Amino acid sequence: MTATLIDGKAIAAELREQVAADVAEMVAAGMPKPGLATVLVGENPASEVYVRMKQKACAKAGIESFGFTLPADATQEEVEGLVAELNADDRINGILVQLPLPSGLDEEKVLNTIDIEKDVDGFHPINIGRLAQKGRESLFVPCTPAGCIYLLDKMNVPLDGANAVVLGRSNIVGMPVALLLVKRNATVTVCHSRTKDLPSVTRGADVLIAAVGRPEMVKKDWVKPGAVVIDVGTNRVDDPTRERGYRLTGDVDFDEVKEVAGMISPSPGGVGPMTIAMLLNNTV
Ligand code: GUN
Repeated sequence: MTATLIDGKAIAAELREQVAADVAEMVAAGMPKPGLATVLVGENPASEVYVRMKQKACAKAGIESFGFTLPADATQEEVEGLVAELNADDRINGILVQLPLPSGLDEEKVLNTIDIEKDVDGFHPINIGRLAQKGRESLFVPCTPAGCIYLLDKMNVPLDGANAVVLGRSNIVGMPVALLLVKRNATVTVCHSRTKDLPSVTRGADVLIAAVGRPEMVKKDWVKPGAVVIDVGTNRVDDPTRERGYRLTGDVDFDEVKEVAGMISPSPGGVGPMTIAMLLNNTV
């Protein structure tokens, strides 16, 4: 292995401790505990796991969490009605509507309903819009993209003038992380399913962020020697040798790419823990 491992678990643990200390200080000063509301609609198993992890992390940091679940056939009015109640609830400082929502619900309208002061996920169109504009500041930045930048900063990776390539243009990761990189003066290329000759584009990257949801797609010859690689992908692949029948893997072929990259953040165990830490930080 030639690449330095970016230890997202350790960096996230450190941030979570810092957040817990901030909460303890606030409570000692007589302020109420910060509160996070999670809204889960339907029965997506992955979403259930993520929400449970977020609630557990809240409890550990001293943040009150309020869990709300609605059935998969909840109406648009019911979901928006719940968000409106949470907007008005003083115990709640942050509202997280876990995505994706079941088909048939209008995600944009739901996100638009969240009070931007409580939009700890940073997905409200105003917060995203500010991210896309020069000289404007979002109240909150989406947690996974913020986690990627936090890791790069922790590792002292220069972004000013760097060639950054983002694989994927999702609303949750690809696009906001590209916008954050632009704000940091990187020269950013966003790749997607129609990009021609992907490996030749990724080989130009000083910083490569993979967020496409394709297991181990990024190979050794896609990466410039010495590049910094952040793997955001979390993919389930069949694995009969495991008790649960599958294993989780990233978008990057770690075993190959670690031989050429300068630094690498693996998945699982890299950006995932950072997402939760950033959520707690945003809530506080
Ligand atoms: N689905 C996948 N990632 C996220 C996230 O960071 N926030 C929410 N709300 N939903 C998600």
